[in-house]
Amino acid sequence: MQTAAAAPLRALAHLPGERGLPFIGHAIEFATDPRRLTHRLQKRYGDVFRTSFLGTHAVVLLGEEALELVLRDRDANFSSRLGWGVTLERLFPNGLMLRDFEDHRFHRRIMQAAFKTAALEDYLDRMNARIAEALPAWGEVREFRFYPRLKQLTLDNAASVFLGVELGPEADRLNRAFVDSVEAALAIVRVPIPGLALHRGIVGRQLLVDFLRARIPERRGSDRPDMFSQLCRAVDEEGRSFSDDDVVDHMVFLLMAAHDTVTSALTSTAFYLARHPEWQERLREVSRGLGTELATYDDLNALSLHQQVFEEVLRLHTPVPYIPRRTIREIEFNGHRLPANTHVSVVPDHTHHDARLWSQPWRFDPDRFGPERAEHKRHPFAFVPFGGGAHLCIGKAFAYMLAKIFLHQLVLRYRLHVPATYAYRPEPVPIPKPVDGLPLTLERV
Ligand code: HEM
Repeated sequence: MQTAAAAPLRALAHLPGERGLPFIGHAIEFATDPRRLTHRLQKRYGDVFRTSFLGTHAVVLLGEEALELVLRDRDANFSSRLGWGVTLERLFPNGLMLRDFEDHRFHRRIMQAAFKTAALEDYLDRMNARIAEALPAWGEVREFRFYPRLKQLTLDNAASVFLGVELGPEADRLNRAFVDSVEAALAIVRVPIPGLALHRGIVGRQLLVDFLRARIPERRGSDRPDMFSQLCRAVDEEGRSFSDDDVVDHMVFLLMAAHDTVTSALTSTAFYLARHPEWQERLREVSRGLGTELATYDDLNALSLHQQVFEEVLRLHTPVPYIPRRTIREIEFNGHRLPANTHVSVVPDHTHHDARLWSQPWRFDPDRFGPERAEHKRHPFAFVPFGGGAHLCIGKAFAYMLAKIFLHQLVLRYRLHVPATYAYRPEPVPIPKPVDGLPLTLERV
């Protein structure tokens, strides 16, 4: 990988902002309350400001225009590889987000084959079956910790849908390896000492790599419907396909990109449904109208109210709240000059709470996504939980599909309750998750 050194602090000294504590910078404030930090710095310096984290100096660009500039990236000024590489390069090398421009387009075109409608329909059948198997076993429980149980379900789902592995000891081993590698990506100690997260993650990644590599020849010749087999067979319009190394790197990355994002969003959705029983009833009424627990691909349009609820939660608790890039040449934004190799962050979570774009932005109000109000259409980059431009989440349709069929089965099977005094305070970064596991009461419908 070509390594360009990030712009040093002196190259950014002309920009408004601050360095925070020596070496640590704003890292602690960011980890504990990133929204408060962003708000404080915005109030003091405006929509473009400099900040520092553990020796990395970055420029934060706020607002929908900044999101459009960076994500649409008409002039190919921003590298995703150099932005995300800081955290993801070691454990998730060569994933789609770690590729730029022509190389990225080449890989994305081939990968698209695994996300076509026919492939999604197959995934849907398998996911429906997994959910229908898991939900009845949850039972009528008073202190039901929603987050860990949902995580188990989404992990089993991934083993089945992504890897084509049935539940059992092998799926458990792969799930553990996968959880270790994701946790390691954000480990504070960046030295692989046995017993610590980074070492566990490297061992976990190797287990996944060995599992995948050993099965590629068989999967290339199979007609199995799982995502791994789809990637092995994927070809673009010009007949180009992935090498064995590509398949391995893309699969490990896909598992990571798909997992915590969906688990986080559906956990937050369960909380808002428990807090707003009137919304549970509205969804239940639509779901009963379908007349089946197992929604088909063609039923998905009828579940638009479920989508509105999911979107409102993606807005309130954006699973990818910050998106990093690095400038590859000097650019100007709103009168500020950013030199080449500046580490840049845009902040969907901030724009998702902007009172200029959203009425009462801190309120749970899924009707704002309905056809009459359509607040998300006030600007093309007002609502970007899946990013935008060339790196727009390739799993967006998959995520909506999974969310809809899950919520459909959930409301048909259970009423969710949470005490009025309960405060939902998910740990905000890197991906929102409740430290207490989200204790809910489940009542059978
Ligand atoms: C609620 C669920 C999800 C959210 C909020 C989400 C969010 C995002 C965002 C914001 C990006 C763009 C990052 C950037 O521009 O730097 C992205 C990219 C990506 N996502 Fe998702 N994602 C979700 C689910 C999924 C799923 C289910 C999959 C796979 C099945 C997936 C696979 C990917 C991949 C491979 C990329 C890289 C695309 C590229 O670089 O071209 N994501 N996701």
